[in-house]
Amino acid sequence: MLKATNPIIDLHDVSVTFQSNGKTLHAVNHVNLQINQGDIYGIIGYSGAGKSTLVRTINLLQQPTTGTVTVSGRHLQQLSNPDLRTARKKIGMIFQHFNLLNSRTVLNNVEYPLLSQSINKHDRRAKAKKLLELVGLGEFEASYPEQLSGGQKQRVAIARSLANDPDILVSDEATSALDPKTTNDILKLLKHLNETLDLTIVLITHEMQVIKSVCQHVAVMDQGKIIERGPVADVFSETV
Ligand SMILES: Nc1ncnc2c1ncn2[C@@H]1O[C@H](COP(=O)(O)OP(=O)(O)OP(=O)(O)O)[C@@H](O)[C@H]1O
Ligand SMILES: [Mg+2]
Repeated sequence: MLKATNPIIDLHDVSVTFQSNGKTLHAVNHVNLQINQGDIYGIIGYSGAGKSTLVRTINLLQQPTTGTVTVSGRHLQQLSNPDLRTARKKIGMIFQHFNLLNSRTVLNNVEYPLLSQSINKHDRRAKAKKLLELVGLGEFEASYPEQLSGGQKQRVAIARSLANDPDILVSDEATSALDPKTTNDILKLLKHLNETLDLTIVLITHEMQVIKSVCQHVAVMDQGKIIERGPVADVFSETV
């Protein structure tokens, strides 16, 4: 079927090079990566391996030096700027540092990505409330970020990332600042969103345990290359 044969994310021969101090750094080095819809796909590797740079090419926040980026069947580098903006809204991102607006309430933070959309205030508010319920923070809508724990802040960031009904969520070390129990709770939430919203998740981490607990597939990155990939059970079977 279409779903099985057409990956939602298709990075073809993607490289990213940076020039620094007169030297060329191959942060991402001829990477091919296909991710199917509905997957939770882990990317693991040491610091500096190129994980963040690679996933930033998925929405062209990072322009590849060479290679093509196709998402949901659209070749992103060929899109006009307005079309690229629209395509980007379907790719949510969350990070280690939650990047919340501290002067706004939790509800306003979640509403924020919708401010530029053609959605009226009532519907916008209703949607933000629904998303806060979904991440288990319904009671906290009037709180400010500084009144929340790290895990709660990450839930707000997750709700905000879902405001535009993305097809894909990229999680770049989203649990790295959290304790093991909170990490577990956030991973469970991501799994729940994957199942209920058919959300494809790309999850970057440097912790094998995180991959093992939620991912179906994994790619191991080292020095800009994917050195191993496959179903999690296969890739980690020798290292358990
Ligand atoms: N804008 C930039 N300019 C120059 N070099 C960069 C830039 N962004 C990243 N790099 C370099 O590219 C390499 C890959 O960085 P990247 O942030 O993708 O690694 P990472 O695997 O995400 O690491 P970490 O686990 O520490 O987040 C590193 O050597 C980094 O210093
Ligand atoms: Mg990184």
